[in-house]
Amino acid sequence: MIEIKDVTKTYSPGTDVAFQALKGVSFTIKDGEFVAIMGPSGSGKSTLMHIMGALDTPSSGLYILDGKDVSTLSDDELAEIRKDKIGFVFQSFNLLPRTTVLRNVMLPLVYAGIDERSREDRAKKALTAAGMNETHFGHRSNELSGGQIQRVAIARALVNDPTLILADEPTGNLDTRTGEIVLGTFQKLNEEQGRTVVLITHEQDVAEHATRIIHIRDGAIQSDSTSHTKRKARTDI
Ligand SMILES: Nc1ncnc2c1ncn2[C@@H]1O[C@H](COP(=O)(O)OP(=O)(O)O)[C@@H](O)[C@H]1O
Ligand SMILES: [Mg+2]
Repeated sequence: MIEIKDVTKTYSPGTDVAFQALKGVSFTIKDGEFVAIMGPSGSGKSTLMHIMGALDTPSSGLYILDGKDVSTLSDDELAEIRKDKIGFVFQSFNLLPRTTVLRNVMLPLVYAGIDERSREDRAKKALTAAGMNETHFGHRSNELSGGQIQRVAIARALVNDPTLILADEPTGNLDTRTGEIVLGTFQKLNEEQGRTVVLITHEQDVAEHATRIIHIRDGAIQSDSTSHTKRKARTDI
């Protein structure tokens, strides 16, 4: 489903501050995999996620998503790919503060041109899949805890029914217990709904919730290993 081949990314090419953040990265990810991308700060994780999420294009190399070459698309074509296929969860996901949980999740569908009635239905389904209790749907997002905010963020990523969920340090601001709940939600979405999940983290114990870990360092892949014993998210702490 995803093929990344010899991908490089150079920021400010042709200037004396040019910096090669990705130095020829290759891997494939099959539909329904749960992959963690691990590496220290500055190793190129977010750069790679921006390319996989069709937010940016590589300087060279190929990115094939569902049989389509995404590496050379225009900004408008990239926006279409994002709308149809990709759900993003960021560490500091900006929800509109005085807007209800439900409206925050409906918002991406406004841009996608979906009518009001189905916007609401789809947002409710996404919130439920993200483990959000219905009693919170009408709360304003500035009344929520960190874990609840991240559930709304996950719901917002799910609302366009993406085949690929990309999460960049989604537990970075959460305490251990809340982080486990969020990781459990990703495992459920992967196991029960068959969604492909790519989780970016610099923490080993977070990465172990995936079945495959790709290590990246200084813009290059160091190792890529699949395990049959992923760490089950804890619900008892
Ligand atoms: N827009 C940019 N312009 C110039 N350099 C950048 C830009 N974005 C990231 N970098 C540099 O590329 C390297 C990789 O960054 P990033 O992909 O954000 O790493 P990570 O997410 O692993 O911390 C870092 O050295 C960073 O300073
Ligand atoms: Mg980053």
